[in-house]
Amino acid sequence: MRSHMSMWWSRRFALTLLMLATAALLTVCVSHSARTTRFVFSGNDLGFIRPCGCSKPVLGGIARRGGMLALLRQDGPLVPLSTGNLVAESGRQQRLKFESMLLAMSSMGYRALAPGAGEFGLGLSYLREAEALAGFPFVCLNVVCDGATVFARSVSLEDSWVVTGLVPQDLTGGEITVQDPVIALREFVATLSEQQDLVVLWNGSEAALAALAQALPEERRARTVFAVSCVGDAPRPLDAAGSMAVAVGSKGRDLMLLQPGATPFWRSIRLEESVPLDPECAAILEGYRDGVRAEDLLAAQPRTNSAAYSGGASCRECHEECHKALESSAHMHALATLERTRDERDPECVRCHVVGLEDTAGWTPQRPELANVDCEACHGPSELHAQTQALTPVSKPAPQSCLRCHDMDNSPTFEFQSYWLKIRHGGK
Ligand code: HEC
Ligand code: HEC
Ligand code: HEC
Ligand code: HEC
Repeated sequence: MRSHMSMWWSRRFALTLLMLATAALLTVCVSHSARTTRFVFSGNDLGFIRPCGCSKPVLGGIARRGGMLALLRQDGPLVPLSTGNLVAESGRQQRLKFESMLLAMSSMGYRALAPGAGEFGLGLSYLREAEALAGFPFVCLNVVCDGATVFARSVSLEDSWVVTGLVPQDLTGGEITVQDPVIALREFVATLSEQQDLVVLWNGSEAALAALAQALPEERRARTVFAVSCVGDAPRPLDAAGSMAVAVGSKGRDLMLLQPGATPFWRSIRLEESVPLDPECAAILEGYRDGVRAEDLLAAQPRTNSAAYSGGASCRECHEECHKALESSAHMHALATLERTRDERDPECVRCHVVGLEDTAGWTPQRPELANVDCEACHGPSELHAQTQALTPVSKPAPQSCLRCHDMDNSPTFEFQSYWLKIRHGGK
């Protein structure tokens, strides 16, 4: 294999000198040099179709991923593959998101997706329709229904690569049965020819990875690729009995580039703000936003019974100083922030940018007085108090109550003392 590579380089050099029919000959050489394939892995996106913008730096998203793949393709062809878990939950919005992500991945030239727990949670018949929409195959070796595997067991690529997917046995989903992944892999590998090499998209834990790699005949291990979902946020190489194994990262923030034969064989790529957005993927994302609006997903937001809210303006006459202290805080324009990106009708965003989205008496577009992170977002529904001065509001919301919105994804630098100093009021 090594001599093959160097021959390719010296021939290329000679041809450049001759400047004759270069292109035609190069394509011949590339298709015969067995290991110039460059894989790009993503997966474990967990619904992060775009960066929310809550925290800086802004990372990831499908439009930026499209832009990065276009950049990488300037150096030659790529084989993008997904280890699955594009979404983590089910429901209408997750499906809409899933479909948009598939369309974007189709435009990015993905070659296969290995469905994981997130996908199987959407339901099998739906998944089959989604596969048709995607236009690239879903691969899975060890999920069966009515005695047959539910998707293609594998897909063959150029250069004799074969790609398959495996899920852990504890995955459940009504109609489906999951076979032991180690046994399924061992049996599958026995059907491969000596020339064929394998990429396994694994949707399980890092601990189980070693057992999978050991299921391979020893001479195969070093030339087998494992790309793994579900093992934390950081893309990195994994220990797998000498195989080329990588964790793909999560939440769509990175890509994992893998080139068998290169040293090192992997490189993780952070999708930084400076990466140009791919216009086609950006348009698909706008289509997703249109879908969220057109289907009025906000109206479908589940709500629990609550006491009545009266709106921050009604507190003013008696708590003038609190108002003065807070009227210029970022909390008071939180909904306008979402309007800038046309996300003000997306319940996934709105829930932290208004008062009481999850309560029956909370914000709706028809109750603009409950927009933004106004008084009652922290002090709770207080209409009764505003009318009667009964001591119903939460007098001192605990520091932990901030974490409901200032969580690790949306406010990673949150720390109560310094944040409170910016919004202190009520005499403290
Ligand atoms: C879990 C709660 C939560 C969710 C969900 C959420 N946000 Fe935020 N958002 C915040 C918090 C908290 C901040 C302030 C972070 C900080 O300054 O530490 C913020 C800040 C922002 C900012 C930055 C404002 C500025 O000018 O600096 C933008 C933009 C934003 N969010 C957009 C969105 C979008 C779009 C979505 C939906 C995809 C979303 N948010 C979902 C809590 C949330
Ligand atoms: C008509 C006047 C009035 C209005 C309107 C009013 N409050 Fe008050 N609020 C009071 C008074 C008076 C107290 C002090 C009661 C006491 O300490 O006995 C108080 C106390 C509070 C406290 C401390 C509660 C406690 O247990 O010590 C909070 C918090 C509060 N108000 C929030 C609000 C919010 C939020 C609104 C708007 C939804 C609001 N108030 C509207 C008069 C008002
Ligand atoms: C209902 C959700 C929610 C809760 C609860 C909440 N915040 Fe926020 N916070 C936000 C959002 C959303 C933003 C960003 C607003 C924007 O810029 O559009 C924000 C921004 C801030 C900012 C401005 C950050 C900056 O650097 O400018 C501070 C400070 C802050 N919050 C402090 C707190 C503290 C302290 C608490 C708890 C006492 C708290 N927040 C509770 C949603 C919330
Ligand atoms: C981001 C969350 C948040 C928002 C928004 C907020 N508060 Fe507060 N408020 C707090 C916290 C936390 C405390 C308690 C501070 C402490 O530990 O003493 C407090 C304290 C108070 C107190 C004093 C309560 C007491 O018993 O000492 C009053 C009154 C009050 N807030 C009124 C308001 C009013 C009126 C608004 C709207 C203009 C408002 N708050 C908006 C979080 C918030």
